[in-house]
Amino acid sequence: MTDLTHRVALVTGASSGLGRHFARILAARGATVVATARRRAALETLTDEIAGSGGRCHPVVMDVTDAPSVAAGFAQALDLVGGLDIVVNNAGVAQTRPAIDLSPADWRDTLEPNLTGAFLVAQAGARAMRERGGGTIVNVASILGERVSKGLAAYAASKAGLIQLTKALALEWAPLGVRVNALAPGYVETDLNRAFFATEAGARLIARIPQGRLGQMSDLDGPLLLLCSDASHYMTGSVIAVDGGHLVSSL
Ligand SMILES: NC(=O)c1ccc[n+]([C@@H]2O[C@H](COP(=O)([O-])OP(=O)(O)OC[C@H]3O[C@@H](n4cnc5c(N)ncnc54)[C@H](OP(=O)(O)O)[C@@H]3O)[C@@H](O)[C@H]2O)c1
Repeated sequence: MTDLTHRVALVTGASSGLGRHFARILAARGATVVATARRRAALETLTDEIAGSGGRCHPVVMDVTDAPSVAAGFAQALDLVGGLDIVVNNAGVAQTRPAIDLSPADWRDTLEPNLTGAFLVAQAGARAMRERGGGTIVNVASILGERVSKGLAAYAASKAGLIQLTKALALEWAPLGVRVNALAPGYVETDLNRAFFATEAGARLIARIPQGRLGQMSDLDGPLLLLCSDASHYMTGSVIAVDGGHLVSSL
């Protein structure tokens, strides 16, 4: 039921980390993938890797914070692949800084990609999906959209906004056949955070996760495929935490 042959998926933030992993997983299930981000060279490397494994991928440069860039990226994608069935709204940034020191520019640097950009991409995706009777949008939120942590006020606010946006869009777009759900990962080990989790502070954080370990990117595969496929055809407006129980840790 999670076979994606004949489906077309657009993934934002596919030049590194989770987005690159998601693109590979969707391609391995048979989807044709449009891999988007700002760094063209990284997208081309991913495209070659997927082609080398027998999959199909097209690189499209897109800055999600720039409405004309999103419009041009979707136009290019639709020229290449004809239509879209799946959008994985994954592009995002995190910066850690005490809220008292956040400048207006710092605030915008987080909110624009994580929330405004996610809206622009979801809207362009839904307009394309409406043309072929529906599709599925997966917003990559975070457990920080539901709970908080010091130094991450802008990030937590952006992800809480994305969770509420997911629900609002699910309500409006159900009549179009467009489903909108969110994945809320806990702490997932990537190249960017591996060094931190090897420190004492990192070990203390891991100790608070009920399952006692960090997430691995592969822990997201099942929930991602559920939301991207017909296996979730009666789900919209849902938020799935994938966090080893971190959200339910003891207060
Ligand atoms: N890793 C975790 O533990 C974790 C946990 C919960 C949620 N998440 C969420 O998962 C998503 C991916 O995170 P990650 O850990 O994989 O981070 P990452 O490796 O830093 O990847 C972020 C991606 O977003 C893209 N991006 C950033 N700004 C963009 C913009 N303005 N326009 C287009 N693309 C942009 C980057 O590509 P370019 O620089 O090439 O544009 C990159 O591909 C984020 O939304 C993050 O909040 C991650």
